[in-house]
Amino acid sequence: MTSVVLPSQTRRFPGEDLPRAQEIVGRAVELVDARASYVESKGVDPTFAYPDANWACDAPNAFVRLFRRVARCDAEAIGQLRGFTQVFSGLNLYEMITGPSIVQQHLDHYTDDAILGTLKQNLPYVAAWKALVEHLPYRCIFTPPRRFGEIGHDIGGVIINHDTVAYQERINLLFEGGVIAWLDGLAAEKRELKILEIGGGYGALAFWFRNAFPGCSYTIVDLPECLLFSGLYLSLSRPDIRTGWGLEAVPFGLRFVPNYQADFLNESFDLIINTLSMSEMSISQVRHYVSLIKSVWTGRGGLFFEQNQDNRHMGLICAQDIFVEEFPNRCPLNLAAEGLRQGAANIWSVAPIGTQKCNAEPAKLAQGVAPVQHSRGANAITQCGEAESDPT
Ligand SMILES: C[S@@+](CC[C@H](N)C(=O)[O-])C[C@H]1O[C@@H](n2cnc3c(N)ncnc32)[C@H](O)[C@@H]1O
Repeated sequence: MTSVVLPSQTRRFPGEDLPRAQEIVGRAVELVDARASYVESKGVDPTFAYPDANWACDAPNAFVRLFRRVARCDAEAIGQLRGFTQVFSGLNLYEMITGPSIVQQHLDHYTDDAILGTLKQNLPYVAAWKALVEHLPYRCIFTPPRRFGEIGHDIGGVIINHDTVAYQERINLLFEGGVIAWLDGLAAEKRELKILEIGGGYGALAFWFRNAFPGCSYTIVDLPECLLFSGLYLSLSRPDIRTGWGLEAVPFGLRFVPNYQADFLNESFDLIINTLSMSEMSISQVRHYVSLIKSVWTGRGGLFFEQNQDNRHMGLICAQDIFVEEFPNRCPLNLAAEGLRQGAANIWSVAPIGTQKCNAEPAKLAQGVAPVQHSRGANAITQCGEAESDPT
């Protein structure tokens, strides 16, 4: 019989976490409060800087209420942070349901017995997870921290629920598409691997990346309200890693940058990530990010990995329509296992894909990708998907 993990097993936290959490709340609140004056004094486009589309303050999205709740920074908010993260992955963890759900101010009625009663709904995720990790190296398995009130089934020390599967799916896409191997090649060559995630949710993918690539500097650009969640999740679970708030570089650390400062993030990155969020932004916000990715953030060879749904049926957008117009090179990524299939996934690039300078075999970058065209010369992969073909 598979064992289960219940709130009483994962909600405790060390005493020193409370002052640390209060400091993080202070940072996030300060960034929210400073937004209007920053936008005005620096001339940032307000349509880019303020939450919009599915994240507009008048949208049916509970992120501001959840921000206020967690900012109270009581034992429940810190010990059971995961009970307040449903806006990011869509999973209401303690109800074990996906989709819109009520924001609870308190979680004490979710006793171990109550949770036990919901865990039957978790079994399909256990099956999906097993299929995803079957052929993966151990390092590529996302293992959520055994804290923050995480619950689910326990398989070999990994707590499985819908969110474990969702983030595992993203890692599988990166692994099967050759991106992990490509990053390994870069990491062997460079001192510092630089990753930027736009819209990092509660920080689960960042948590995996920092474990899998200890030599990486990881930056999250997100609404300041939402940086509270990733800030708490990552800083408290990895107190050994340096953290920074704002634009100042944090080599080999974790950096939290409010979205309204994005125009001033004048650096290049090896990999830029966006999952399940650009299709929830406005068209102008996505175009603005794409312009930054193309002109600044990918530098001379960085790649843009995204997985996004087509949200037009919800009155939102299909961000990939914009990427197709804007990027000359694309590699669609396929998933071998069933997973959750949370939208199509692609690698996009300004430079032909596979010409990125590193010792990793460029062909590996497009494994599992079809169609693939080979150019003559040193770089095996030039384009795939809808990219223009090589005239030679
Ligand atoms: C549905 S969640 C997805 C979170 C995570 N990437 C995932 O795959 O589960 C959308 C994310 O986009 C962020 N977001 C919304 N508008 C944004 C903006 N204008 N700039 C940056 N991030 C934004 C939200 O705060 C949230 O972190």
